[in-house]
Amino acid sequence: MVNVVLGSQWGDEGKGKLVDLLVGKYDIVARSAGGNNAGHTIVVKGVKYDFHMLPSGLVNPNCQNLIGNGVVMHIPSFFQELEQLEAKGLSDARSRLFVSSRAHLVFDFHQRTDKLREAELSGHSKDGKNIGTTGKGIGPTYATKASRSGLRVHHLVNDEPEAWDEFVAKYKRLVETRQQRYGPFEYDSEGELQRFKQYREELRPFVVDSVVFLNDAMRANKKILVEGANALMLDIDFGTYPFVTSSNTGIGGVCTGLGLPPKAIDEIYGVVKAYTTRVGEGPFPTEQLNEFGEKLQDIGAEYGVTTGRKRRCGWLDLVVLKYSTLINGYTSLNITKLDVLDSFKDIQVGVSYSLRGKKLALFPEDLITLGKVDVEYVTLPGWEQDITKITEYNDLPENAQKYLKFIEDFVGVPIEWVGTGPARESMLYKQVK
Ligand code: GDP
Ligand code: IMO
Ligand code: MG
Repeated sequence: MVNVVLGSQWGDEGKGKLVDLLVGKYDIVARSAGGNNAGHTIVVKGVKYDFHMLPSGLVNPNCQNLIGNGVVMHIPSFFQELEQLEAKGLSDARSRLFVSSRAHLVFDFHQRTDKLREAELSGHSKDGKNIGTTGKGIGPTYATKASRSGLRVHHLVNDEPEAWDEFVAKYKRLVETRQQRYGPFEYDSEGELQRFKQYREELRPFVVDSVVFLNDAMRANKKILVEGANALMLDIDFGTYPFVTSSNTGIGGVCTGLGLPPKAIDEIYGVVKAYTTRVGEGPFPTEQLNEFGEKLQDIGAEYGVTTGRKRRCGWLDLVVLKYSTLINGYTSLNITKLDVLDSFKDIQVGVSYSLRGKKLALFPEDLITLGKVDVEYVTLPGWEQDITKITEYNDLPENAQKYLKFIEDFVGVPIEWVGTGPARESMLYKQVK
């Protein structure tokens, strides 16, 4: 069995929390795309865990965790994150963590050029707009992957006699071409290579052929949960290009990022924040640059886990959710952070976009068009009461249930869980099958 948790908006919907809630039923949690640009926070018994590159399934002692081939891997961050988890008491995390031999390596120069490119974009482009990346080297690493000059985990850990020399030669070529492109920035290649020589030994015990690993697991009837990172509107193909990340964050990336046949996938859980947030630059039609946006930001504690930036906030955008549902094919939804809306008298929901009075069929691909659309909103009455202590879905206030029903009817996908607070137990469940 393979089930998948995916973000339906611009990220930070609460994917990590759903993974944590479900993980008891699974043997393996796998990450298929992205890198340490992700930030998944889970709260267990009052302890807060922040995951970036490692799968959130590590919190569960019975669960194995896989970093798939579609992930880009910054080894120093990998070990740092692991050590931080160990310091929080997850002593057996190492023995339950596996890394695909085909995952691409993020070097420090990728991170440097990520920042140099951002500076270049903000200074030179006509509209002066950088992407607002996390600076973790994600785009540059996927670029070297696509240009076929990247280095992968197996290049590092291969112990054939010529492997290290080849690794060094390819590495040097990469640094050289980056220096040519961005001007000769200062860079300690020898120091980085020395560190990688050490990582070669340290990483080896984690490395697996993930195709074999997952295939064996499926044949042994193990249950696999895929933890999506980033989210559909940041997908390199379907997101608000170019204000996106550099991987396929949707369902397609799950297959290519793990080597799983599409037919192996059973349930696809879409995680939807009850309103919308976005970090970084780029269009956001339902953004509220007013007291409502500030209130959502404040009550929802909307700060990025990876960069600490304030998240931009706005109303729920059902045009986005419908589009995202068409691409990812969610079988059920988890609405998160419904409690953040507790004190709102009225709640608005974006239901269509129009351009010069004409309704658009779906989310437009072109940002000039997107920048001109008018959003049509429906106003729904708030419930104006605290829902954080409620333990049964049916005990939610009538207006909260109506809000949820409105979403379900609009996108035609049932809501299976509703988040009412950050903690593991703050989640209401509704039987959908
Ligand atoms: P992810 O990247 O999709 O895993 O989401 P993040 O962890 O970046 O952001 C979601 C934030 O909301 C985290 O701080 C969670 O602890 C918190 N959170 C998740 N679900 C809920 C919820 O239902 N209510 C509230 N108030 N907070 C939640
Ligand atoms: P999780 O998994 C929110 C955004 C960045 C930036 C754009 C490109 O926590 O939902 P990148 O560093 O990937 O090249 O940045 O994508 N971004 C995210 N925003 N949550 C994430 O992950 C994100 N991952 C990338 O802010 O706008
Ligand atoms: Mg996040």
